[in-house]
Amino acid sequence: MNKHLVSIKDIKDREEAEKLFRLADDIRAEERKEALNPRYTSGYANALKRKQVASLFFEPSTRTRFSFESAVNKLGGDILTMSNASSSSTVKGESIEDTIRTIMGYADAIVMRHSEDDSVERAARVSDIPVINAGSGTKQHPTQALLDLYTVRQLKGQIDGLSIALLGDLKYGRTTHSLVELLSLYEKIKVFGCPLKGLEMPQQYMDFMGERGMEYTHCNSIEEIPSIVHALYSTRIQRERFEGKDFKDSDYCIDAKKLSRFSDNTLVMHPLPRNGELGTDIDNDPRAIYFKQAHNGVPVRQAVLLTLLDRGNA
Ligand code: CP
Repeated sequence: MNKHLVSIKDIKDREEAEKLFRLADDIRAEERKEALNPRYTSGYANALKRKQVASLFFEPSTRTRFSFESAVNKLGGDILTMSNASSSSTVKGESIEDTIRTIMGYADAIVMRHSEDDSVERAARVSDIPVINAGSGTKQHPTQALLDLYTVRQLKGQIDGLSIALLGDLKYGRTTHSLVELLSLYEKIKVFGCPLKGLEMPQQYMDFMGERGMEYTHCNSIEEIPSIVHALYSTRIQRERFEGKDFKDSDYCIDAKKLSRFSDNTLVMHPLPRNGELGTDIDNDPRAIYFKQAHNGVPVRQAVLLTLLDRGNA
């Protein structure tokens, strides 16, 4: 794997992704042993001892920030946290580059979220320590894609042959962009795009899917998605990124009525947070796995941190 994880392209091939997934499996297995036997200590409990990870969130986050911070704590490392852009010197006009050059002297790795598309790329360009993208503008959210497919692999046993419908805001929703790139490392992937009109997947990702031999089918409504699809991946309208008042999330809401047409094996996924595009009336349906997805963020991000900090064999 590259020194940084700015985008899915930093994961060289399928084997590198699988290596991360196997490491996450092993971390979970160790933690289960620890939970069952109070005298047992996970082999990873001290893997990041004396390592400091700076958590720089220039944009709001619940899942990504807390799961990264939980991951560092579980590995015995220390977190230096900035959860609010207004508490950093960027409000005094400091550039991203100077912020990173400074933090390099305090930490061993940087986890960064920012509203600008090229922000994390810029950070990585000047950084001597690993930079992990925790969400950059409309562009990338690689660790979200990793936890999404880790969850599919856990529940379906494999990713090859997956058929997945992407719903909602495919234009500004960075999670779907990273997901498409990660899916391209696997075989026989079918994507059904069901975007809101005007929020279609950018052409570069459409071209990318074509080049990688992924089958893409456009659907005008949820009703056009095949009922046997393996997963419905819903996303919210990214209203913080554009004037989205003309779009209604209720137009593509997955609720109990809409879900009733789908197979018993169709997973309902969502990166969260949700708005009106995902009904709460399906929360107890065994197919609704979005909170499991969010919880898998911890072992997957533990695996990413260990790999980038060369502690994967701890
Ligand atoms: N999925 C996700 O990125 O959630 P947060 O914005 O809460 O981190």
